[in-house]
Amino acid sequence: MALLRSLSLAMLPPLPPDPSNSVADRPEAAALGRQIFFDTRFSVNDAVSCASCHMPDHFFTDARPFGVGVGVIPLNTMSLVGAAYSEWQTWDGKNDSQWSQALIPLENPLEHGGTRMQYAQVIAEHYRAEYVALFGPLPDLADRQRFPLRGGPVVDPAAAASWAAMRATDQDAVNRIFANIGKSLAAYERTLLPQPARFDRYVASLDDPDPSQEPPLLNDEEIAGLRIFIGKGACTQCHNGPRLTNDAFHNTAVPGAPGVPLQRGRVDGAAKVQADPFNCLGRYSDAAPEQCTALRFQVTDPAGLVGSMKTPTLRNVAETAPYMHTGQFATLAEVVEHYNGGGYSLQGHNELKPLGLSPEEASQLAAFLRTLTAEAR
Ligand code: HEC
Ligand code: HEC
Repeated sequence: MALLRSLSLAMLPPLPPDPSNSVADRPEAAALGRQIFFDTRFSVNDAVSCASCHMPDHFFTDARPFGVGVGVIPLNTMSLVGAAYSEWQTWDGKNDSQWSQALIPLENPLEHGGTRMQYAQVIAEHYRAEYVALFGPLPDLADRQRFPLRGGPVVDPAAAASWAAMRATDQDAVNRIFANIGKSLAAYERTLLPQPARFDRYVASLDDPDPSQEPPLLNDEEIAGLRIFIGKGACTQCHNGPRLTNDAFHNTAVPGAPGVPLQRGRVDGAAKVQADPFNCLGRYSDAAPEQCTALRFQVTDPAGLVGSMKTPTLRNVAETAPYMHTGQFATLAEVVEHYNGGGYSLQGHNELKPLGLSPEEASQLAAFLRTLTAEAR
């Protein structure tokens, strides 16, 4: 019972503060971030927004193996529901906050494809009042000698050249606006919290003195699947707590996707987050250095990191197919089959062991996973 309660949403603690983002819990910042999240002007072709891939109707995923923006990014779009709880963002944890994470897709040529200079201009033109109220005055972005329409440290040679030609102090001012766009988006993302599922009502009903009043909330197949989840399947080794994730990195020997280079996972993410100028210790962070505990005490020993990915939440998992970091598996049945076989690692150390589930047990486990979908949206 203690283990079951620990998986219930009733046990979800309040969101931890983000000292690196001084507007993280300001409703005005969340309101601005929400507008930016759905605004396609924050892209090179006026056609892509965060919601192009993080669709509210799909629990902020996109029902595709790979994210599709300006191009195709060969990674599976992650759900944003409850993601603000996680110390590390993305499959390999290359960011230590949601605000620094947001800056990556904005300038990735395959996702939004634009530049920080362009986005600062969009803020000045369309969100000036909201921005100034939160972050103070903007520089004179209409001065084309100092601030071009496009520019950033990006792949596109013209945009990179106009960025390189800017004064360091003007680059710094634009970096600050860029970081504040991320901080507003993060404030919005903090409002995307998991909602109770049938499983949570089931756990609550077990403490009910008179359970005969209600029809059983989980059927026999689902209850058998739950037993496997916490028992023979050893799923709670990694998928634990109310979001059903330990937010840590593990090598689960997921096979590569055809045509996609093998992802090295956390071993690369660990180096990237240390080098990120927008990390918790960087000049655009609002945290005091001693508050950046995750980054300062980060595990960097590559031994356990090769081929490791962040354990995803299993909240709403029945609605967020396909699965794994490159969408390798189309169905929950295929996921369970992978765990049942134990996998074979092409790199690093496989943490899985074969489970020996019968076909009936495998389908019970998949049935349990379908009880984790939020009932109200
Ligand atoms: C082209 C599709 C696409 C677009 C557009 C996009 N994302 Fe993502 N998002 C992804 C993919 C794919 C991943 C996994 C990336 C990785 O592992 O490197 C991801 C991961 C994330 C994560 C990490 C979640 C976690 O649990 O670690 C966050 C947060 C996020 N995106 C927020 C945003 C925001 C904010 C925007 C808009 C500025 C955005 N995304 C735009 C596809 C997209
Ligand atoms: C050793 C840690 C670990 C164990 C044990 C584990 N998982 Fe996972 N799980 C992960 C990681 C890491 C991923 C992402 C792997 C990737 O994308 O390469 C994942 C992915 C998943 C996904 C896909 C979610 C998505 O959004 O793509 C499902 C479903 C899942 N696991 C279910 C289970 C079940 C059921 C069990 C028990 C049989 C289990 N897991 C045991 C770590 C673990």
